[in-house]
Amino acid sequence: MTDIDALMRSVPVIPVLVVEEASHAEPIAEALVGGGLTALEVTLRTPAALDVIRAMSRVEGAVVGAGTVLNVRDLDAAIEAGAKFIVSPGLTAPLTEAAIERGIPYLPGVANAADIMRGLDHGLTRFKFFPAEPAGGIKALKALAGPFGQVRFCPTGGITEATAPDWLALKPVLCVGGSWVVPAGTPDVATIRRAAEVAARLRAA
Ligand code: 3PG
Repeated sequence: MTDIDALMRSVPVIPVLVVEEASHAEPIAEALVGGGLTALEVTLRTPAALDVIRAMSRVEGAVVGAGTVLNVRDLDAAIEAGAKFIVSPGLTAPLTEAAIERGIPYLPGVANAADIMRGLDHGLTRFKFFPAEPAGGIKALKALAGPFGQVRFCPTGGITEATAPDWLALKPVLCVGGSWVVPAGTPDVATIRRAAEVAARLRAA
């Protein structure tokens, strides 16, 4: 099982997926992996999400994780469905302890210094900076990263294809997350693949 640092370094962009229909899972995952995005975050925001994780996990080359994991119940359901990594919007002690105990790569959300310090207390140094733009954008992340030299981030929330390179130029940023690669609704696989190809080639500005 890949660790969270290796996962974050494997792609410049982790697509954040909100998939309503399990039947959309395979075509979306194939288009993303075909375009070069292999780490896929399936948010537990739809009734189909666990089936989507199962279906996407069958696509060769896809490393499928669960996002919007809010508690230990979500964590165990996601692991049972085959999730290979776990993303949550915030950092709580029960979820963090359970994720560490289960041995699954885990990326909790942080938005301030206290969140990061609680994560460090648990031995974590890799975080999702969420919600990246509303929480103050690049200026906020630079300030926040200052005291925590060993910490690295995946900023997510309000990031676009146009702004991603500015984030990727920051030393503490290993990758970014975003929902722009896969728009809501019936998937247009050619468009998704093209967006994935562009995202997979994004580099620091
Ligand atoms: C998330 O869950 O990580 C965010 O909702 C994704 O943010 P975005 O939709 O602004 O990319």
